[in-house]
Amino acid sequence: LARAVAPKPFAGKKILITAGPTFEAIDPVRGITNRSSGKMGYALAQAAWLLGAEVTLVSGPTALPAPYGARMLQVQSARQMHAAVFTHLEQADLFIGVAAVADYGIKNPSLSKQKKQEGQPAGLNMEFELNPDILAEVGQLASQRANPLTVVGFAAETENLDEYATRKLASKKAHFIVGNLAQDALGADLSELTLYSPTEAPIRLERMSKLQSAQALLAHLAQHA
Ligand code: CTP
Ligand code: CA
Repeated sequence: LARAVAPKPFAGKKILITAGPTFEAIDPVRGITNRSSGKMGYALAQAAWLLGAEVTLVSGPTALPAPYGARMLQVQSARQMHAAVFTHLEQADLFIGVAAVADYGIKNPSLSKQKKQEGQPAGLNMEFELNPDILAEVGQLASQRANPLTVVGFAAETENLDEYATRKLASKKAHFIVGNLAQDALGADLSELTLYSPTEAPIRLERMSKLQSAQALLAHLAQHA
């Protein structure tokens, strides 16, 4: 019912969102991951659908129920997330990368469970390899393709938020970067977001629930997408 009565600034628009962490396998029973509950990305998916969008949500492992109305694609690794995004990007009008993508995956993960080596004092060594930068690749593609694609990234930083978020606008060729402080945001139900763009002064949103933050962000993005 909420969707039936709400105004629909995103009617006819296709929005692709990444959310949650990625999980990089070490062996079949272990892996490394990033801290991310997925709450912000799922809130954006829900809010975008309420505003009339056709929403595809590419999610790493989270404990959250699927947002109503969104097409859900579940992935584990950054490489799987990258593949799912590029499979669904062609029709998208707006890409929002909220996922906490692991920067590195494990090179040659073991196909069988690794046994601990008793009496080996040297510890455990692993080789890492850089994962694809999904947002930077989407930004690059958007700068080249004919039909318009608005590209939005997130930056969760522990310090120097304005500086790092502004830098990411350029390095990712993003139209917007949404900044927040990692220590406030991780797992929390409230968020305090700042919206950075290459052309305007940062827009600082007040601290509010992630659904309210998502609605406020989308209200700004609706003017561009
Ligand atoms: N991102 C991505 N793919 C990656 C890494 C990051 O799509 N391999 C996206 C995230 O979803 C987020 C944005 O890029 O929207 C910023 O992520 P962040 O980790 O802050 O940026 P990095 O370029 O990885 O820089 P840092 O060294 O600060 O981790
Ligand atoms: Ca990173």
